Amino acid sequence: MPQTIFRYPQLTDKRNNNKVIETIISFVANEELKNYKMKIPHPIPYQGSKRNLANDILRYFPESIDRFIEPFAGSAAMTIAASFYYKADKFIINDINKPLIDLLENIVNRPEIVVKNYYDIWSGQIGNEEEYYYQVRQEFNKTQNPNHLLFLLAKCVKAAVRYNSNGEFNQSPDKRRKGRRPENMRDDILGVSNLLKGKVEFQSKDYVEIINSAKTDDLVYLDPPYQGTAKNGGFRYLETLSYDNFVISLHELNKKNISYIISYDGRTGDKTYGENLPEKLELTKIEINAGRSSIATLHNRNEITYEALYLSKSLCNRIDMKRLNQTALVNTPTLFDFVNEK
Ligand SMILES: C[S@@+](CC[C@H](N)C(=O)[O-])C[C@H]1O[C@@H](n2cnc3c(N)ncnc32)[C@H](O)[C@@H]1O
Repeated sequence: MPQTIFRYPQLTDKRNNNKVIETIISFVANEELKNYKMKIPHPIPYQGSKRNLANDILRYFPESIDRFIEPFAGSAAMTIAASFYYKADKFIINDINKPLIDLLENIVNRPEIVVKNYYDIWSGQIGNEEEYYYQVRQEFNKTQNPNHLLFLLAKCVKAAVRYNSNGEFNQSPDKRRKGRRPENMRDDILGVSNLLKGKVEFQSKDYVEIINSAKTDDLVYLDPPYQGTAKNGGFRYLETLSYDNFVISLHELNKKNISYIISYDGRTGDKTYGENLPEKLELTKIEINAGRSSIATLHNRNEITYEALYLSKSLCNRIDMKRLNQTALVNTPTLFDFVNEK
């Protein structure tokens, strides 16, 4: 395509001054719009979030989904991405961590209040960052206030939730950072509310209760805590998970022909982590390239981490696996893709 050459009107033309400025503004705005990539909003920093793998996982979604169900939602990265790409318009977000669910519910239904509270809490730290963090942490462990949780996640080391055996949040602050700036947080909070308001049912129950309600037209995405991150071992998430019970739940889903996707184990180089899921479940395993592992990079090795994705048999019957293996990944749409769609 020949390149369009834009000629600015003469800036020295006094009579035409307003017109010149107007033209320049609209020219810059148009150019910016053309290059603007729609960004998927993600307000809750959460280690283990699937935001960077969302596009790869969305490839395996069937054409039509009644409800998209996330029983281990965490930061709800997949729900947000699914809504962004119009993959579903009814969602169930569940996590055993109640303040986290309260936070997500407030983000979706009362975004202005979350924005204001985050601004107030974040601003309170200036000049006294470390001590202030510990005060907020203590307050959160007393009250379970979701606004405090957002600040703790934004400021703690590697956005990694850590709980002690009494269920108290005990992650330390990242002393080099103040945590995500309120203006950036505001945009993501409003973006998520825009995508999900009126479409989500929020729950804070054990995952088994949630998957029991799934139906054949739904899609369930399961991202349980990694093995070895138990409350009394790795102190990662609020709850641990029994491998055996998890496998039993998957058998139940199979019996009811429910479509599901699991993120479960993975490998870096030839080192695997997590136990394989039993063959009897008849799952299709796919490996997703999750990029260079930070540990390998530290040791000057060039190893890539692959995260495993398991697709249920009933899901594979709903999607065209052959076509998927040939086509490219989902692209991030630009504003113009949406304009052209109309
Ligand atoms: C790996 S994280 C999920 C991350 C999520 N996919 C994201 O993108 O942020 C696992 C989540 O499971 C939750 N969880 C642990 N045990 C659970 C249980 N028995 N029922 C429901 N949720 C549970 C944890 O609180 C944690 O948020």
